[in-house]
Amino acid sequence: MAGENILVTGATGFIGSSLMRLLARQGYQARAYSGRMNDPLRLRQELEGIEIVYHLASAERRGRRRLLQHVDVEGAERLVEESRRARVGQLIVVSRLNTDPNSHYPLLRAKGEMERLIWRSELSYTIVRSATVFGLHDRFLNVIAGLSAWTWPFVVLPGGGKTPFQPLWVEDLARCLVQILDRPDLRGEIVEIAGEERIRFADLAQLIMRTVGMQRIPVPVDLRLLRPTNRLLMSWWPYPPVTPFFMDLFSQSDIAPVDSVLRTFGFRPNRLIDNLGYLRRPGLRRYLFRR
Ligand SMILES: NC(=O)c1ccc[n+]([C@@H]2O[C@H](COP(=O)([O-])OP(=O)(O)OC[C@H]3O[C@@H](n4cnc5c(N)ncnc54)[C@H](OP(=O)(O)O)[C@@H]3O)[C@@H](O)[C@H]2O)c1
Repeated sequence: MAGENILVTGATGFIGSSLMRLLARQGYQARAYSGRMNDPLRLRQELEGIEIVYHLASAERRGRRRLLQHVDVEGAERLVEESRRARVGQLIVVSRLNTDPNSHYPLLRAKGEMERLIWRSELSYTIVRSATVFGLHDRFLNVIAGLSAWTWPFVVLPGGGKTPFQPLWVEDLARCLVQILDRPDLRGEIVEIAGEERIRFADLAQLIMRTVGMQRIPVPVDLRLLRPTNRLLMSWWPYPPVTPFFMDLFSQSDIAPVDSVLRTFGFRPNRLIDNLGYLRRPGLRRYLFRR
């Protein structure tokens, strides 16, 4: 399939840039979508002649419900309409575990609404529901490590640190996404994937602290206390390091079967413990305040 025209939304993001690199390395002609999701004319122009769309654009990191609705839900609606018009052959979409259009949590609800728009359309699709992803520019492990520098001598454990996570290495997610191009059996499917290590947040925080060489006292804090504090401190920030959606990640287990990648994609994902070196880089604290 290496001659097909591919368009990638959200190509400049954390996962999108890994995907673009891998597609290029494997000889695919992939172009980054350069407009905004709610610009139908631009979408129409850029979808011309496109056979496959990877959809990764999202306002998740901005932490604003209105933007989430605008980009993740209404943007997906525009994309579906214009993809239908352009007769796109396949839509490959990155979503999250636990999505549900009736969820109490805005991010999971928006992703659920997005998924529903896609599976109700007549387009051929594959939806990949991924666990939280880690890698050089992630906004999970980097945030925990960076914030701990400010909360000395403590590390905060939202919700008591009991939530289980199964982080997936960003390049492994990209590898799964590229494999889908040659997997007609995954058309019309919703695939759930995660890494192979299931770890409670309290243990994950300890692992991060060990990796970055910080000694911190773990302090369990109830989410009912953290949410308003976070709103107070971060609501004026255009790109807040910790958003309400980030907090919501601690409300539900972020897990899938431990062999999910192996079973569906035939390879074993990279281990968390072997790939945390990026957390030791200098300037991590400044990273928190990047756009
Ligand atoms: N990161 C994770 O752990 C994780 C886990 C599971 C699923 N996901 C999902 O995977 C997808 C990609 O996540 P990510 O972490 O790579 O996100 P990200 O780093 O925040 O990237 C988001 C991308 O969307 C683009 N974007 C935002 N608003 C847009 C708009 N109005 N029109 C067009 N493009 C827009 C951004 O471009 P600009 O910078 O130009 O705005 C950026 O390229 C999201 O749907 C996310 O929910 C992420």
